[in-house]
Amino acid sequence: MPIEIFGAREVARLRRAGEAARDTRAVVAGRLRAGVTTADVDAWVREDTRRRGGTPSQLGYRGFPAAVCVSRNHVVCHGIPSRGERLVDGDIVNVDVTTCLDGFHGDTSATFLVGEVAEERRMLVDVARRARDAGVAVVREGARLGDVGAAIVEVARAAGCSVVTELGGHGIGRTMHASPHVSHVGTRGTGMRLRAGMAFTIEPMINLGRPEVRTLDDGWTIVTADGAPSAQFEHTVVVTRDGCAIMTA
Ligand code: MF3
Ligand code: CO
Ligand code: CO
Repeated sequence: MPIEIFGAREVARLRRAGEAARDTRAVVAGRLRAGVTTADVDAWVREDTRRRGGTPSQLGYRGFPAAVCVSRNHVVCHGIPSRGERLVDGDIVNVDVTTCLDGFHGDTSATFLVGEVAEERRMLVDVARRARDAGVAVVREGARLGDVGAAIVEVARAAGCSVVTELGGHGIGRTMHASPHVSHVGTRGTGMRLRAGMAFTIEPMINLGRPEVRTLDDGWTIVTADGAPSAQFEHTVVVTRDGCAIMTA
């Protein structure tokens, strides 16, 4: 699939969608605590997204049954909110919000700490954020897609963590998922050359244990194969001549 190059007017719309997703993510962050259910998070995201004039992109996407992915502890991504799942002290939980506003999508996630969290898990969350930021930092016109994954893998490996290879970031624009696929385990100097106006997500999933994942019988929930915790952060970015513009910062 060809990769779209967005002009200033389209980037302005991507930014509005990205900022709406970011703001909804922040509203959720302010309400998370032990005792809330992941279904509560889903209700907040539905309500807050609509309040901003958007729609939740994930709701009904390929049959996904909720407005937001909520992924706790050993759940890597695509966790389905449930009334029976309560946050407890010591959890780490990723909330992944995608908003469609005025025909464009913004996609962002963060992993939050619930109450008192073990040192090892706090380290994992910190590594995931730094890995995402290291990927974002190498984006500029002329850089290669492989540079992004290489930067991510270096941060993760230096901390003794692993990077999930089976899922990656994605182009984004008038659809939530577009070309290119953004691997989080690249090799520097390889892959597609980035051009100003390309829009994609960077969303590394970092595991405390082994990188392997498996899908639960619900067809959505991705968990670590070894049951160890996983953390993720996601931004939507647009390539510029000297770097990138973060739509979801
Ligand atoms: N927001 C997710 C991503 O980062 C999309 C998950 S697809 C869903 O790509 F259907 F599970 F919502
Ligand atoms: Co995404
Ligand atoms: Co996302």
